[in-house]
Amino acid sequence: MAAHLIVLLLFSVLKGVHSITTVSKVSVEAGKSISIPCLYESQYIDHVKYLCEGHIWSSCSYAVKTNKPDPSGKYSISDDKKEQIFTVTIKNLTNQNTDYWCVVEINNGPDCGQYFQLSVTSDTPSLYVDHQKITGYIGENITIRCHPSNSGEMKWCRLGRNCVTGSSGSIDGTTVTTHMRDPDVSTVTMTGLRSEDSGWYWCSEGDIQIPVYLNVTEKPIKSEYCKLSKILHVNEFNTFINICTLGL
Ligand SMILES: *[C@@H]1O[C@H](CO)[C@@H](O)[C@H](O)[C@H]1NC(C)=O
Ligand SMILES: *[C@@H]1O[C@H](CO)[C@@H](O)[C@H](O)[C@H]1NC(C)=O
Repeated sequence: MAAHLIVLLLFSVLKGVHSITTVSKVSVEAGKSISIPCLYESQYIDHVKYLCEGHIWSSCSYAVKTNKPDPSGKYSISDDKKEQIFTVTIKNLTNQNTDYWCVVEINNGPDCGQYFQLSVTSDTPSLYVDHQKITGYIGENITIRCHPSNSGEMKWCRLGRNCVTGSSGSIDGTTVTTHMRDPDVSTVTMTGLRSEDSGWYWCSEGDIQIPVYLNVTEKPIKSEYCKLSKILHVNEFNTFINICTLGL
């Protein structure tokens, strides 16, 4: 009887762990905003998703739902059903904003949640990136700068896929190299971008992570030089025209 219960318990714990995947701890600066991605399983595509605030699962209260926007605008949520990722954004962070759950609503059953913690500081966060959303171009490379507070081992991971530790590796066939520039900047370079590389990644050091959204698109055809050559008298600026023709 007891063994039966333990098996049941283990099963539900394991099930809970695999249903939603997100970061576990993010360091953020008070007054700023943060976006957190939550990956869910395909059976939840049409379910309502929400952000729940509070340390304890049974007593957390919802901050925003995909079908109930937050009137104050502090919290927002969007659901990318194609990628099976919903993203929650919390603005104007204060030291009260520390404990959250990414949740999928289950009709006629307990909802399914995954905890994450925000460590809000008035100083520089212990791990941060310059921008949480970055744009890369198909066929080109992109370099992301992660700023750790100490020089521990850095990891670069794709949400729900694998991580690259050490100086090089690959994620979904794209080569990733990491490089410790100086004690407070690590760079991650992804080579030969394809549109499938678009998605959520994170940089981590120790138990802290910072999510980054990479958007890989076609490179815009017109460069600044082309705009300039249109403004100026075109005939006098053949060099600019040549630059445009070369697509540089
Ligand atoms: C940010 O939060 C603080 C503390 O809750 C509040 O006093 C302030 O008005 C908020 N600022 C904005 C722009 O919402
Ligand atoms: C990615 O960039 C393209 C081109 O700028 C834009 O149209 C698209 O909305 C972006 N996608 C996301 C998810 O931000």
